Amino acid sequence: MAYNLLKGKKGIIFGALDEKSIAWLTAEKVSEEGGEFVLTNAPIAMRMGRIYELAEKCGSKVIPADATSLVDIGNLYKETEEILGGKIDFILHSIGMSPNVRKGRDYGDINYEWFLKTLDVSALSFHKVMQVAEKMDVMNEWGSIIALSYIAAQRTYPDYSDMAQAKAVLESIARSYGYRMARDKKVRVNTISQSPTVTTAGTGVTGFDIFHSFADKMSPLGNADAESCAEYIVAMFSDFTRMVTMQNLMHDGGFSNSGITHEIVDFLQGLEKSSSREK
Ligand SMILES: NC(=O)c1ccc[n+]([C@@H]2O[C@H](COP(=O)([O-])OP(=O)(O)OC[C@H]3O[C@@H](n4cnc5c(N)ncnc54)[C@H](O)[C@@H]3O)[C@@H](O)[C@H]2O)c1
Repeated sequence: MAYNLLKGKKGIIFGALDEKSIAWLTAEKVSEEGGEFVLTNAPIAMRMGRIYELAEKCGSKVIPADATSLVDIGNLYKETEEILGGKIDFILHSIGMSPNVRKGRDYGDINYEWFLKTLDVSALSFHKVMQVAEKMDVMNEWGSIIALSYIAAQRTYPDYSDMAQAKAVLESIARSYGYRMARDKKVRVNTISQSPTVTTAGTGVTGFDIFHSFADKMSPLGNADAESCAEYIVAMFSDFTRMVTMQNLMHDGGFSNSGITHEIVDFLQGLEKSSSREK
């Protein structure tokens, strides 16, 4: 059921690659809620993904932009203002990529060129998106900017590698730029820390199935899926969350505040029983 929560609001959605992408589901929900937007992704994703199908479904235009390029971001804003007829109210940064994770590089043998690439694509791009937005004055007052994070910013997940550092930087940028955006533009900036989710970026991490299943058992509500994340983002773009800013918002079914759950206890007891039977 739609509530018209975003009627009259305009924005930009970064990062819809295929129908599993969190940005893809968000675009569908934003459209259902009456929002208008431009879709963007890295030029290479235009060939690999299916963004034009999504654009057709939502009646949107697609503007390719590498989120690490200030020139591309500037061009994206210029064209968006022309297409949507003025300033915008929301931006979703749904971007992440680590060459070290992608190529299975061990954390103790990390490639530092790639590490810098991870930071640039997955974290500094968020700063760039906001810096260019500020300089070009593209945001309306009481607008909302969201980026997606993961709890590896606070806790260690061995195979998440340099993405953990990228997420820590991303969350820090949300606080620092959030202060500035709030003071000068009345625009709010937050990160949403999402449960493990079955997407191209998510499943690229070694052992994803195991920590997806572990997180599910450790969350009293179960893992938050991409659709519920999309709904949360809609809420964060709506006028009902005007005073929330500079936060890292946990969207994880209760995972981050659970020490242990009965599901994990039952699972471990089952393991112990079967290993004592084998002895
Ligand atoms: N899937 C998970 O388990 C999970 C959990 C928590 C947070 N997140 C975060 O959610 C966000 C979206 O990821 P997803 O899971 O939907 O996967 P996804 O692979 O569908 O999306 C990642 C997107 O980043 C884009 N991208 C990569 N390099 C880019 C560049 N230079 N310029 C512009 N775009 C670029 C890709 O083309 C892709 O569309 C990421 O920030 C990810 O870290 C994912």
